Amino acid sequence: MNVTTIACPQCRYHFAIKGKPGEKIQVTCPSCKTQGFFQVPEETTRPTPDSYHALTIQNLTFIYPKSEKKAIDSVSFHIKKGEIFGFLGPNGAGKSTTQKVIIGLLKGYDGTVDLLGKNLKHWKNDLYEHIGVCFEFPNHYQKLTALENLQLFSSFYRNKTMDPLDLLSMVDLDKEAKQRVGSFSKGMKTKLNFARALLNNPEMLFLDEPTTGLDPVSARQIKNLISEKKKQGTTIFLTTHNMTDADELCDRVGFMVDGRLTLVENPKDLKLKHGKKIVQVEYLDNGGISREEFVLTNLGSNKRFIQLLNTDNVQTIHSQEASLDDVFIKVTGRQLK
Ligand SMILES: Nc1ncnc2c1ncn2[C@@H]1O[C@H](COP(=O)(O)OP(=O)(O)OP(=O)(O)O)[C@@H](O)[C@H]1O
Ligand SMILES: [Mg+2]
Repeated sequence: MNVTTIACPQCRYHFAIKGKPGEKIQVTCPSCKTQGFFQVPEETTRPTPDSYHALTIQNLTFIYPKSEKKAIDSVSFHIKKGEIFGFLGPNGAGKSTTQKVIIGLLKGYDGTVDLLGKNLKHWKNDLYEHIGVCFEFPNHYQKLTALENLQLFSSFYRNKTMDPLDLLSMVDLDKEAKQRVGSFSKGMKTKLNFARALLNNPEMLFLDEPTTGLDPVSARQIKNLISEKKKQGTTIFLTTHNMTDADELCDRVGFMVDGRLTLVENPKDLKLKHGKKIVQVEYLDNGGISREEFVLTNLGSNKRFIQLLNTDNVQTIHSQEASLDDVFIKVTGRQLK
């Protein structure tokens, strides 16, 4: 028998009820006597950190051989299973280096990386059955066709992969399937790069600038596919300079500058925290348009705002939020581009 505290939907009075998991019971609010049914939740086990996080990084530090500068400087963060984590930062911040360490391409780092329930150092080549990687610079076999490229990569996997032709049509390259990649445009290579990362239907996707150089329609198509993958439960590590993409796609973002991770937060919370919280009203004024700004706090009792609303002259009302770009500059003191 479980004891659950519920709130009456009518009067919000909180009271305890008893029932077996899954049981539907009739309930009467002790305060306002409203009656209704309540289903006791099924028992759920509390997730352990390993079943909850796809990636946990602690104090990661990396210096390239023959370099004195830390490309990654004591970075710690985690990515929850099923979320899209955006990794943002200016050129040379250490984003791609971080991705390369996590996917096992760069050895000799300090700190710990736990990936998909296992310390990175304990993963062997079977790691690549579980992850999909989109590199910053597409590396295709130029003399092979797009289809041959995907077929070749498909043959490297032990498990059955997705159909290369289906993938090519997903990224709108089906008509070019038999064209040599050497004759592809930059955007076409980027799309093929993305398709290749999906071949093994990975649990986790690493995407380094997946929309760079794409026209707006192709970029939209790739963003839709990223959202689709998230819906299917894939965890996504998305490196980008594009704040609009990050804002649209990411559950949380991390700001990287000079090898250090400054902040990790949900984009909406960030914008609210650093935004102006102002409402801008545009209204007709002597044949032209005038604008006035009002602080959002206690707006309902602002006499001038209410007076304007009652004039029939109001054309638009917008709440002014900071963009993720503004937040990045404010928090890091650096421009992204
Ligand atoms: N192969 C390498 N050898 C030595 N230093 C490197 C190498 N690759 C990158 N670096 C250095 O490491 C730092 C981080 O580079 P990284 O490529 O990770 O940055 P990034 O954030 O991905 O930048 P971008 O937005 O331009 O892709 C830079 O100072 C860069 O010069
Ligand atoms: Mg990079």
